[in-house]
Parts: sequence; structure tokens; C-alpha cells
Amino acid sequence: MGLVAEIRDTALASLPPARKAEFEQYLTPESVARQAVSLFTPAVNPVRILDLGAGTGILGAETAAFSAQGSSLTAVEIDGQLAALAHLTFEHVGVTHQVVCDNALSVLLDPVFDRVILNPPYKKITPISLATESGYVSVSNLYTAFLVRAVCALRPGGECVAIIPRSWMNGEYFAPFRQWLFSVCSIDVIAVYGSRQDHFKDSSVLQEIMLLKVSKRRQCPIVSVYNGIAPLDDLRSKGHRDAMLNDLLVGSSRILRIQVQDALLAGLPTLAESGLWVSTGKLVWFRNRDILLNEPVKDVLPLYWSDNASSLEATHPMMGSRREQWVDAKAYERHVVLPVGSYCLVNRFSSKEQSRRVMPSLLSSTVPFVVDNKLNYVHQGTSRNTIPLDRELAAGVTLWLSSSLVDNWYREVSGSTQVNATDLRELPIPPRHALLDIARRLPIEDKPSHEDVDRVITTVVERLNR
Ligand SMILES: C[S@@+](CC[C@H](N)C(=O)[O-])C[C@H]1O[C@@H](n2cnc3c(N)ncnc32)[C@H](O)[C@@H]1O
Repeated sequence: MGLVAEIRDTALASLPPARKAEFEQYLTPESVARQAVSLFTPAVNPVRILDLGAGTGILGAETAAFSAQGSSLTAVEIDGQLAALAHLTFEHVGVTHQVVCDNALSVLLDPVFDRVILNPPYKKITPISLATESGYVSVSNLYTAFLVRAVCALRPGGECVAIIPRSWMNGEYFAPFRQWLFSVCSIDVIAVYGSRQDHFKDSSVLQEIMLLKVSKRRQCPIVSVYNGIAPLDDLRSKGHRDAMLNDLLVGSSRILRIQVQDALLAGLPTLAESGLWVSTGKLVWFRNRDILLNEPVKDVLPLYWSDNASSLEATHPMMGSRREQWVDAKAYERHVVLPVGSYCLVNRFSSKEQSRRVMPSLLSSTVPFVVDNKLNYVHQGTSRNTIPLDRELAAGVTLWLSSSLVDNWYREVSGSTQVNATDLRELPIPPRHALLDIARRLPIEDKPSHEDVDRVITTVVERLNR
């Protein structure tokens, strides 16, 4: 192990826990640093390097070691102790450098850098607007804020490699950031780690992490996509897919997938285009404790939680549930009641242990009812107006959502265990007649197995594609 890695390891072991947590000082292991740096295009001439949120400087040092003699390095780090260690690291590597001990979000950075590298803090923040040369961009966490600053600091043609969570690739929160990123630079490499724990074993980072390489120029025709990499993989020789950026983008919020869509799904409209909508359950239980009831006294309404929707058909009441199964009529005043009819409920949260990410459940209710906000529900209204489905259509949607085709689609869209309404609205779905056909062939009350669902759905979709 070289001195650069030793400085990093020693610092990580001795960082004061409170400051480590406050500034998210999860320092990059040497193997991941090397891998990230290997994504830069080798340059014969000296380059100007920027390391943003440098920690002990392992990323800047690796980049300098990979660059031509005469290259220079600027590092920005908020923590004085780490900034001093970064200085030591860079001295050891022998690169001309300056370490700026300041806030990376406010320090002045001219757009002069050929190489920017970063493993920023990931925390959520109150949304802020950052000024860029192509207008303001709104961000709601530190890693996208750092990435905006990193890209702005690139000179034309410059390259940036970032170690970041995968969450920016989907979801509504990140839509303005994606829009901005796609408009100002070329997405060149997307490399997603296969295991959440592998890469930052010693720092207990549990998010799904990726390497992203972008460059300041028009989008290059090909994006290289690596799925399921491990820290010791040599990315220069590792198998990957080349794709057109447009083939990886989904829907109006421009979700970025890690694979080209399954050919079976390619010609299908999205759920929103098909006149369906996904909303989130309206009851936030801890704000409505006073209306929750254990017993069905007079004028109560059924209340559905995730537990009630844990199989293909929702159950109510759930015998033995710890959760109150009813609410009183005050629910009407609170605007949380949904109309009689059929819906497909979808759990918003899955656990890593569950084999399925998307877990749908058919609900046909003959009385108005209430849904907890840990569930999404599919209907045919809008975000303001819930219109239920016919039972047969709701059954078809439920079966569609329970298929492996959909589960795989969702995993390619999202690295998180949460299932967002926004992402589901972009889900490809067969036309109504085909959903009704699926529902007729697979009566939900017969409890079809996953294999039955997959077999019937593949047949129906193949027929649509003919
Ligand atoms: C995830 S660590 C990564 C450190 C280093 N780049 C590496 O890869 O080992 C994030 C670093 O950003 C620093 N940091 C956090 N907030 C910052 C800010 N607003 N400005 C500059 N540095 C910041 C932290 O102190 C920490 O060193």
C-alpha cells in the first residue's frame, strides 16, 4: 500500500465521528479511486485538475499520477484537518498544487479545468438554485450541487468523473437536474456497482453507488454502460454495452435507464399515455391519529396499509394486524377518502430482502375507503381527481405490474428500494384490450403463480408485437 492510501486509511480511522457525519467524510478506497480515474481519457499534454471535496486528496492524487508531467491540481476541502492531509498527499505525489480550505458550493471556480474528479457528500438539503452559464438549476442534495459546480468548472472539452449515488437517474426531484446535465454536457460513461456494500466497506455507505463520466461538449453518440461492476474490476477491459443516450431515456421527466428497454416493451405506450395515473395514498397516519379506529363502529371507512396489500388481492380487515383497520367519518373533512371502485395498489417501499421490487395488489371496494401514504394506487383520473377503474381493468393492471418484465424494468430505472409514482407513470403498459385479456386468462381469485403470470403476459405481449 502506498503512502496516499495510508494517509486515507489512517485519517478514516481517526476522524472525529461528529464531524465525519456532518461533512460525510466517507473517504474513497484506493481501488475505487483507481477505477474512477481510469475513466479519464489519457492525455499526452499536462492538464489542470480539480478535486472537489478532496478529503485526504486520494482522488486528485490518483488523477495526477495518471496525467502527464507538468499537470497541476487544485483541491477544495472544507475541513482544515483534511485539507492539511490533502496537501501532504499531493506533496508526496509531487504535483504542483493548491489546497483551498473553503466551501465548494461558494468558492470562486473559473471554467478552466481539463479534469474534475469528486466523491462529494450525498446529503439532502433544502432545495437551492445554483447559477450556471446556462441559467439556474434547482438541486435538493449536496451531491447534485457539487456536480453542478464540477461541470461548471470544466473548460470546453474537459472531463469530469464523479462517484455518486444512482438516485439522480430517476424520480421527479432530480428531473430539473437531469434536464440541465443533458443540456450542458455529454454523458459518456455510466458504471453502476453491483453491491451496495462492497465499495465503501469501511465507511458503511449503503446507497447504490455509481461512477459517472461526463464531458463538456455535445452529447457523443455512444454512452458506455457498465452494470454490476466491482471495485477491483479493470473497466478498460470489462464487458459493457454501448447505447445511444436517447435509447436509455424514458418519458417526459427523462429518466435515465441503465439498459436499453426490453424489446417486448419497446412499442408500448406509458401508463400515463394510456390514460392511467398513479397517485400516492392520502393518509399520513401520524397527522391523523385521532381518526384511526381499531373497531368497525358506526360510519367508519376501511383503511388500507401496506400489510393489507401484501398479495395479489388486497385483504380487509387484516386479522391480527397491529395497525388500525378503520378511520372515522372525519376522514371526509380531511380529503383523504377515495371513491368506491377498483384500483391497483402498489407498495412504495420494498426491502432489499424481497425478491420483487414492484408489489401490486388488486383492491375492489364497494364502499369509500382510505389508503395510507406508504401505498401508491393506479386509477384513471389525474393528480387532483381520482377516478376508479373497472374491476377487470384493475385486475389486468395488477397482473401486469406483478410480472417479471415490469420488475426488471423498474430495477433498470431505479437503484433504490422505493417505488415512486413518477417512475411508475413512465412504465410501458399494454393497451386496455390486452390488459383485459390478461385478466380473463388469469383470474386473480385463483391466485396465479409468478410463472403463470409471466407465461401469459409474455404470450400476450409477443402477440402485440407481431
Ligand atoms: C465523501 S467525502 C470524499 C472525500 C474525498 N474526495 C475522497 O474521495 O476520499 C466528501 C468530502 O467533502 C468534504 N466536504 C463536505 N462538505 C463540503 C463543502 N461544502 N465544501 C467542501 N468540502 C466539503 C468533506 O469534508 C469530505 O472530505
